[in-house]
Amino acid sequence: MSNSKLEGRFTTERLVLRAFQESDTERYLELSNDVRVQPFITNEYIVPMGKKGLEKIRNIVNEALFVAIIETKTGEWVGLTVLLPTTPKNRDVMFGIVLSPDHWNKGYGTEVTRWMVDYAFQWLAMHRVSLGVYELNERAIDLYKRVGFVEEGRKRKSNWVDGRWTDIISMGILEDEWRTQKVGDT
Ligand SMILES: CC(C)(COP(=O)(O)OP(=O)(O)OC[C@H]1O[C@@H](n2cnc3c(N)ncnc32)[C@H](O)[C@@H]1OP(=O)(O)O)[C@@H](O)C(=O)NCCC(=O)NCCS
Repeated sequence: MSNSKLEGRFTTERLVLRAFQESDTERYLELSNDVRVQPFITNEYIVPMGKKGLEKIRNIVNEALFVAIIETKTGEWVGLTVLLPTTPKNRDVMFGIVLSPDHWNKGYGTEVTRWMVDYAFQWLAMHRVSLGVYELNERAIDLYKRVGFVEEGRKRKSNWVDGRWTDIISMGILEDEWRTQKVGDT
């Protein structure tokens, strides 16, 4: 996390997190419309999104405390990651990440999530990082556990997916859990 914020970019071991540009909106819409991705990022109807989708993306970007496009160091577009504010008083932020399927299972999700959690505590002075994940998204759940998130609750049978009811899971990591983990790492 050593590079200057003024450059509008940060780097992890293998990736660059750079500022979201207007031209990323369509690219991200295309990714959100991918049938391999959409059921993991919305509990609404799984339908092709057009103009409304663009509006939604712009709203997320405008509301975000932190939003970045993820690229490889050679400039390949990988995905998006975001921290959305909840109640400022409670220093609680919602984490999100979406990667293009051709970049899954390379460890990028783990690398970015670790960086974002570090950033939220170390630089944004958060007290907790929260997220919501759908029961069928095993790859994401395993990743979050690996990074130190714990399950905090389940909204049972609240999401209709491909012919059956599934749970929506809340997960979180607290500042002191993150700190303990950091001490263990050194
Ligand atoms: C969920 C998501 C972010 C996970 O990202 P990812 O980059 O595919 O995840 P990772 O590669 O870090 O971890 C997945 C597996 O790859 C393995 N892996 C492969 N290469 C690796 C490497 N070089 N380094 C570390 N892990 C590696 C990991 O061990 C892990 O294996 P396991 O969990 O099966 O044991 C991504 O798949 C995605 O964007 N999905 C669609 C949108 C989505 O679901 N977003 C989250 C909504 S809550």
